[in-house]
This record gives sequence, C-alpha cells and structure tokens, in this order.
Amino acid sequence: MSSSGKEELLHTFKGIPFTTRSSPELLKSLHTFDAREDDVLLVSYPKSGTHWLAGVITKLYNAQVTITSPIEFGDISQLEELNKLSSKRIIPTHLDYNMLPPNFKKKQCKMIYISRNPKDTAVSMFHYYRDNPNLPTVDTWTAFFDLFLKGNVVCGSWFDHFLSWEEHEDEKNILFLFYEDMKKDLPKVVKEITLFLSLNVSDNDIQNICEKSSFSEMKNDTEKENSDPTHTVCALTSNRKLIFRKGAVGDWKNYFTPKQNIRFQEIFNEKMKLSKM
Ligand code: A3P
Repeated sequence: MSSSGKEELLHTFKGIPFTTRSSPELLKSLHTFDAREDDVLLVSYPKSGTHWLAGVITKLYNAQVTITSPIEFGDISQLEELNKLSSKRIIPTHLDYNMLPPNFKKKQCKMIYISRNPKDTAVSMFHYYRDNPNLPTVDTWTAFFDLFLKGNVVCGSWFDHFLSWEEHEDEKNILFLFYEDMKKDLPKVVKEITLFLSLNVSDNDIQNICEKSSFSEMKNDTEKENSDPTHTVCALTSNRKLIFRKGAVGDWKNYFTPKQNIRFQEIFNEKMKLSKM
C-alpha cells in the first residue's frame, strides 16, 4: 500500500479495505443490526460530499434528529450506542450495498446515496490520504492514482461501490444524488430531498439553508468551531478540518496527465458498461 510501513492502519473485511477505526468485530456484527422504520441512511463512497449533504439535512430537520457516527465506525459497543438513541436517527455510512445490515432493506428505510465524478473523488481522496493520519501514506499522485484504479484504497473500488448501489436506484426508498447537481443548483436538489423525506419546508427556508450550506460558510463554521470540530460523518477521521479542502468541480484536470485520463476512461468504460451513468 505505501512505502512508509503504515499498512497496519488498514484491514480487509469481505475483500474491502477498512481502517482500524472499524473493528472486525463490529463489521462482523453489522448483519444483526436492528433498523427502525424511520431511520434515514446517508450513503456515500468517501469524498463524495457526505458532510455537505449531512449539513443540509441537519438544517432541514431543525434539530429534531441525531446524525449518528457512521455505522461502521468504532468497536462493537457502537451498535449498542445507536440502539440507545431515542431520537430519529440519520445514519451515515460508506458501506457498499451488499454489506448493509439487511434490516434496513427489509424495513424499507429511506436511503440517500450521494455520488461524485470519480476523477474528482480520486483527487479529493488523494489529499485526504496525505492529510489524515488514520490512512496509509501515499508519496505521489501517480502512486495514488494506481491504487484508486485498482480499488486498493479504503472502502475499495469506487466502481464496485457505485454499481452495488446503482442496481437499486429505482427502489422507491432510495434517492440518488450527484455532487455536481448540488453545485449547479442546490435549491433544486434540496427541494428534491424535502419531497423524498416528506418534509414541509418553505422555498424561503430552502434558500436560507442553501446559503448557510455553501462551501465557504461550512468551512468557516468549522474554523470558528460553530460546529463540533471533533465530530464527522466519515468513519476515516473525527477531524472536521480535514474535510473542507476546495469544494470544486473539475479539480481532476489539475492532476490527471493526458495518459492517466485515457487509462481512467478506458477502465471507466469497461467497468461501467452496464451502468446508466
Ligand atoms: P474536495 O477535497 O474536492 O475539496 P466528504 O464529505 O464525503 O468527505 O467529501 C468531502 C468533499 O466535499 C471535499 O472535496 C469537500 O471540500 C467537499 N465539500 C464539503 N462541503 C462542501 C460544500 N458545502 N460545497 C461544496 N463542496 C463541499
């Protein structure tokens, strides 16, 4: 994985690399987790805009809900902690569809899947690897690019993750969102979220929420510690300051060489040939 001997930060469960922040015992017990009908899952491959979406959803619910730690984060006691919560739970996760506790599917819990151009996701994840002490060291973008394409990174292959969820895109309890759509027209996407979650929020309030959810506002909040800086919705760090880097579409163009772009495109076309994307 890296040249710095930090491989022990990762372990593999059912073929997918996890950080040691997700204990094997917890991962083994996930299938027994008892979901509630009103749970909402916030699902993503890392670096797809999870915190952005979580920020919007918190504001939509106006503090009547708890955004929990990611379900795959921690040791076995995490599941008990989640069980004890009396409020409605918004549960983040980076799990792929096949690893999701079956109870969420059986009870038809609402799930929102946010996705992002995998090229930008790769660049964002490269920086996350560099800045996050919970992840192995990568020395160069070139080295990380190879790891990403092989799925040899935390949470495994972007393609497998996306495809595992896309297969269920038409199920009425699953809403598919794209980071790029949120950048283009956030109020439109937020409206879609309110309809999906059956929330009654005025257009005026949606507008205000969108203003408070801009990249600069959210980054400032974290810097001013207006939000808990030690709480994230990512199982890979608790440090919110690592999350708000650039918040742009198309940053991949500053990293991909023309050769890397061709290679990525070839693999994308091959892996995604059955995808509607
Ligand atoms: P970059 O590293 O490209 O800047 P996640 O929350 O899933 O870890 O995703 C993090 C990515 O979402 C980071 O991307 C981060 O900057 C971006 N992001 C977070 N909040 C955002 C916002 N309000 N608007 C746009 N992008 C945001």
